[in-house]
Amino acid sequence: KGADFVRIVEVGPRDGLQNEKQSIPVATKMELVERLAKTGLRTIEAGSFVAPKWVPQMANSSEILERILQSPPQSPHPITYQFLLPNVKGLDNFLSVWQAKGSGNSAYPTPPPSPSSEGGPAMNTSSQDPNAMPSASSGADAMTKERGSSSASATTPEIELSIFTAATETFTQKNTNCSIAESLKRFEPIMAKAKELDLNVRAYISVALGCPYEGPNVDPHKVANLAVSLLEMGADEISVADTTGMGTAPKTAELLKTLSAAGIEKNDLALHFHDTYGQALVNSVVALEYGIRTFDAAVAGLGGCPFSPGATGNVATEDMVHCFHSLGAKTGVDIEKLSEVGEWISKEIGRPNESRAGKATLAQ
Ligand code: HMG
Ligand code: MG
Repeated sequence: KGADFVRIVEVGPRDGLQNEKQSIPVATKMELVERLAKTGLRTIEAGSFVAPKWVPQMANSSEILERILQSPPQSPHPITYQFLLPNVKGLDNFLSVWQAKGSGNSAYPTPPPSPSSEGGPAMNTSSQDPNAMPSASSGADAMTKERGSSSASATTPEIELSIFTAATETFTQKNTNCSIAESLKRFEPIMAKAKELDLNVRAYISVALGCPYEGPNVDPHKVANLAVSLLEMGADEISVADTTGMGTAPKTAELLKTLSAAGIEKNDLALHFHDTYGQALVNSVVALEYGIRTFDAAVAGLGGCPFSPGATGNVATEDMVHCFHSLGAKTGVDIEKLSEVGEWISKEIGRPNESRAGKATLAQ
C-alpha cells in the first residue's frame, strides 16, 4: 500500500482570528492566507459571512474572498478556500462577491493533485506490521476526494461553503440564535443553492465532545444523528468539533465508534480539536489511528470561539504536522515554512506563539 495522506484544513484565518478583539486589517489577513498558501497546505478556511454585530472581526470576509478570487495566492498546489455561513443572508453576501467575480468552480474541471510525492516519510500500512497505522478505507486519493471540480493551475482557487450547527440546544442558541432543528431548516436553501452552483459544503457539528453550557457529557448518538441528517441533506463532509477541548482519548474513540455504527464513512469526516485542556494532539492521534484522514488545525494554535467562554485555539498546525510526519503520514506541508508563518502572525497580532513544534523548529 502507498503512503497515507492526511489533509489538514488550516482554519487559522477564520477560527484563529475571529475572536481577536483588536481589528485586524484585511491586508494582514490576506498576507496570512498568502503565506499559508505557500506552505503546501491544500485547504484554508479564509473567513465567514456571519452577522458583524455578533462577530465583528469577520466583517471584512467579503473583501478577503474578493481578493482571493481577484488575485489567487501563489501556491505549490491548487488550494480550496472555505467560508463559513450560517444562513441565507450569509449566502447572499457570499454570492454577491463570488458571482460578481464571474467565479464558478465548474470553470476549472480537472482532478485534484496526487499527494503521493510530498510530505513526511511513507506511512507503513502493511498488514504484516503489528505497529502499522490502520489505513483509511479508501486511501490517499479518495482522501482528497473530488471536492467539486478542482483547478487546472496551481493558483486557481476553489471555493467551498461551511455551514455550522451544534450537538446541544444551548450552544446552538448562543452561537446562532436558533434551535438545532431551526439551524437545519436554515441550511436547506443554502444546500440547494450550493448544489445548483456545484459548490461543496462542509458541515460543522460543534460541542461534540463537551459543551460549555450543558457539560462534558454530550451524547455521541446525538452527534451521529445530526451527522446523518447533514449528510442526507447533501453535506460533502462533516467536521466534528471539540469546541471546548473537553474531549479525551476514550471519549474520542467512543464518538468515532458511534459515528461508524451509524453508518458514517470515515472519509466523510473531519475532526476539529480545540486544545483548551491540552488533549487535542492525543485525540488527533486516536482519530488518525481510527482511520480519519482530514483534520482541522490553526497555525500557531491561534483562536478561540466567541461563544465558548475560556476556549483556547485549535490544535497548532505545526504540532499536528510534526506529529503526523513522525507517524509516517504525509501532509504535503513544509514545517519550516509553516513555523515561520506561525511566528510571523503571532508577532503581528501580539499573541504568544502557541505551537511548541513551531518554536522548536525555528530554534534548530
Ligand atoms: P440574529 O441576530 O438572530 O439574526 O443572528 P437576524 O436574522 O435576526 O438578523 C440580525 C441582524 O444581523 C440583521 O441586521 C441582519 O441583516 C444581520 P440589522 O437589521 O440588525 O442591521 N444578519 C447578517 N449580517 C451579515 N451576515 C449574515 C447575517 N445574518 C443576519 N449572515 C446569526 C443569527 C446566525 C446571523 C448570528 O447568530 C450569527 O452570525 N452567528 C454566527 C456566530 C459565529 O460566527 N460563531 C463563530 C463561528 S462557529 C465556530 O467558531 C465553531 C467552529 O469553529 C467549530 C467548533 O470549534 O465548534 C466552526
Ligand atoms: Mg472551532
